[in-house]
Amino acid sequence: MENLLEQYRYFLKDTIRQTIDFRLTDQRKGVTPPPVEKPYDVNSNRIDLVPKENFHSIDNIDLISTIQNRRSHRNFRDEPLSLEELSFLLWATQGIRKRADEATAFRNVPSAGCRHALETYLCILNVTGLDMRIYRYLPLEHQLLVISLHENLPEDIVTATFYQSFIGKAPVTFIWTTIPYRMEWRYHIAAHKVIAIDAGHVCQNLYLACSAIGGGTCAVAAYHQELMDKLLEVDGNNEYVIYLAAVGKI
Ligand SMILES: Cc1cc2nc3c(=O)[nH]c(=O)nc-3n(C[C@H](O)[C@H](O)[C@H](O)COP(=O)(O)O)c2cc1C
Repeated sequence: MENLLEQYRYFLKDTIRQTIDFRLTDQRKGVTPPPVEKPYDVNSNRIDLVPKENFHSIDNIDLISTIQNRRSHRNFRDEPLSLEELSFLLWATQGIRKRADEATAFRNVPSAGCRHALETYLCILNVTGLDMRIYRYLPLEHQLLVISLHENLPEDIVTATFYQSFIGKAPVTFIWTTIPYRMEWRYHIAAHKVIAIDAGHVCQNLYLACSAIGGGTCAVAAYHQELMDKLLEVDGNNEYVIYLAAVGKI
């Protein structure tokens, strides 16, 4: 047991960096970098989101009181989010600030080596104008990609989160996957700790951004890995769920 604990504690240290021969990473070997966004079939159904310039109903809130009042919310009003509000939350958590080159895009959150090895899926139950289904955010296009339809989506997501029932009542649940290779390409076995750290930044921006729409969120790290991966139709190895957050009006 002690060994096992040591092993897991080791994961949080940066000792691993000293064991890597960085001349052998895929980046240094000249391997083509992975795309900044997971590729998709351009013929699939996509929905335009509201661009930042048209965020007219988002409150210009005070940062100090927003930080001071931050807390997790698990009870939401039975009210939809608007497409503008959802667009704002997506922009705040994964929106792209600047495209540096084909392999690099700076976003509104920081990321180790600017690798941004996360994808955002949404379980949408109540957003005005959108069907109840799973979507994926396309940050480069600022669009939603329509993924899958589930007959019993509220029940399925509750089951996949070990029966945390408030998630089945949240109008939107953000579900973040990682595509680890995007970070491994640069950092090899030092990639995984920083992927987890990156996810924290994203969710913290969601907490703060929710305040500007009269909303709230609760981070969720307890979920059934296989069921959640299946819900999003990801393979569980090259891409898998690492974190969630339920969002609604409070
Ligand atoms: C990494 C992480 C995982 C969490 N997982 C869950 C969870 O699975 N279910 C839940 O109800 N709350 C979860 N929470 C919310 C915490 O319970 C909450 O942040 C904590 O109780 C402190 O409350 P506060 O956020 O209101 O300050 C999680 C929070 C974090 C940061």
